[in-house]
Amino acid sequence: MCGIIGCCGVEGAAGALIKGLERLEYRGYDSAGIATISNGKFEIEKKKGRISALKNALKSHRDYAGKIGIGHTRWATHGAPNDINAHPHQSGKFALVHNGIIENYAQLKEQYLKLTNFKSETDTEVIVQLLNRLYSTSCLDAIAKTVKLLEGSFALAILCEDEPDKLYCVRQGSPLLGGVGNGIFAASDITAISDMAEIFYRMDDGEIAEITESNVNFYNFELERVEKERCEFAFEDMRTDKGNCEHFMLKEIYEEPEAIRRTVDAYLMESTIELKLEIDKPEQIYIVACGSAYHAGLVGKKILSELLKIPVTVETASEFRYSNPLLNSKTPVIIISQSGETADSLAALREAKKLGSKTISVVNVANSSIAVESDFVLYTKAGPEIAVATTKAYSAQLAALYLLAIYLAEKFKTAEQAQLDKLKKELKELNKKVSLTLDCEEQIKRLAEELKDIDHAYFIGRGLGYCAAAEGSLKLKEISYIHSEAYAAGEMKHGTISLIEKGTTVIAMNTQAELASKLQSNIDEVRARGAKVFAVTSGIDITADETIITPALHPLLQTSTQIVPIQLLSYYIAKERGCDIDKPRNLAKSVTVE
Ligand code: AGP
Repeated sequence: MCGIIGCCGVEGAAGALIKGLERLEYRGYDSAGIATISNGKFEIEKKKGRISALKNALKSHRDYAGKIGIGHTRWATHGAPNDINAHPHQSGKFALVHNGIIENYAQLKEQYLKLTNFKSETDTEVIVQLLNRLYSTSCLDAIAKTVKLLEGSFALAILCEDEPDKLYCVRQGSPLLGGVGNGIFAASDITAISDMAEIFYRMDDGEIAEITESNVNFYNFELERVEKERCEFAFEDMRTDKGNCEHFMLKEIYEEPEAIRRTVDAYLMESTIELKLEIDKPEQIYIVACGSAYHAGLVGKKILSELLKIPVTVETASEFRYSNPLLNSKTPVIIISQSGETADSLAALREAKKLGSKTISVVNVANSSIAVESDFVLYTKAGPEIAVATTKAYSAQLAALYLLAIYLAEKFKTAEQAQLDKLKKELKELNKKVSLTLDCEEQIKRLAEELKDIDHAYFIGRGLGYCAAAEGSLKLKEISYIHSEAYAAGEMKHGTISLIEKGTTVIAMNTQAELASKLQSNIDEVRARGAKVFAVTSGIDITADETIITPALHPLLQTSTQIVPIQLLSYYIAKERGCDIDKPRNLAKSVTVE
């Protein structure tokens, strides 16, 4: 989704902005632009398409000598992706870039800007027009007046020609952080500036930063000074190259065993799970997340309810936040998020806190909003994930949820210790089992060649197999653009089986021995109607047109190995189809708007 970078006091600011924008490319975008100030005047360039198009435009125009600037990658919400709607937007002495959505932009136009000639179709332009309109002598004053009128979420980086040595930033509901290095930087995502700054400051909602070459002052919207502590990031985790792989996604699939090992080793010492989580015995647990993180939550539900013997409800964050959930201090809420910035998940977290629940987050990005705002954070140790389609972060989320479930079951003595000891032992070996699963790659490449031209696929499974099916189906559709659906295998005959005809592709996920015969019946039912069935199974006998065998492990942990062949299959099918694997169309890595 949209990305912001800003810098002040940086030689060759345009180069630094482009470098930062390139590091934000993974978030997904459809246009990009920068503005610098040179000799007191703006130089603005923005282009539809990739950053390479912006770079070409910059080369052919001016020399961009300024030491201050702002840059943006836009993921269109209001107005088509084109040069005009791309950021930065300018009005009078102001230029700005914006992440988020201004929900009351139409009212603001009507109330304050009736006579203004708008150049773009964006909600963002309202902000810059308001700044221009409310400006008399002080930028800070105009910014404070403007942001108080805005409803919605916004992170802003603002330049003003009257103060050509200052960069202003605002955060309200969209992430933004500051960094000090050779110059001072601002970015919506640490990745953009991790190798240009050494000291970092996380902005909180309702804050304005006034940045000069040598100093940063923070204010609230009443323009009272706010003191900030620096925050730490683990930089050994920050490598973001593809290594020897053609795509980040493949590299990240190979990194899954390591992501699991690091997550498990961070909390499981010898045979003790060490979490500093203070919590009363829950009566019920809610899990809230989006997309793949929601699918990890489905797995979390199974293991938590099995070991804690209490009801566990999983909901997508976009539904949960508006569902008037019945929460109290006995109903902790677990929020799962790779980025820690997903708007719906963050809103769900805030709602849960408001209603008195203890909030536990499972997050990959240190110091992200969800991590900072939750009562307890269990970090996954997947390292930076660049491909839009999550693989290693999902696997690390599963590992974290296993740890949490076993920890709570031990704490409240809700399961046999022998069972928990066995699970812990298997958890220590999980990375090796996942590593062995990668051996199926050659078989998968052959299958991908066979399946590359299909139009539809159905994933079926029972129990944890259904959880794997849901995630597998999402993986296939998001990167290969093949229509795909996941069903609890027993549900097929209640409607969807009418879509099965000769040659329809069905992928069956088998995780639990006790459900295998039931799944087999469902496989037989679709095969009898002409479906071609590929089954992923862990040594449990399943008859299908082709089986992919994964290493056997404790049934409660089985999703961790089951998903890997499907991630690989999705990858190789997408490759066969020539798709943009790391940046699938229309998708963003971190969904920071509702
Ligand atoms: C999965 O491949 C997707 N990229 C998407 O579903 C993702 O899991 C979802 O947007 C949630 O993101 P988060 O984990 O950063 O909150």
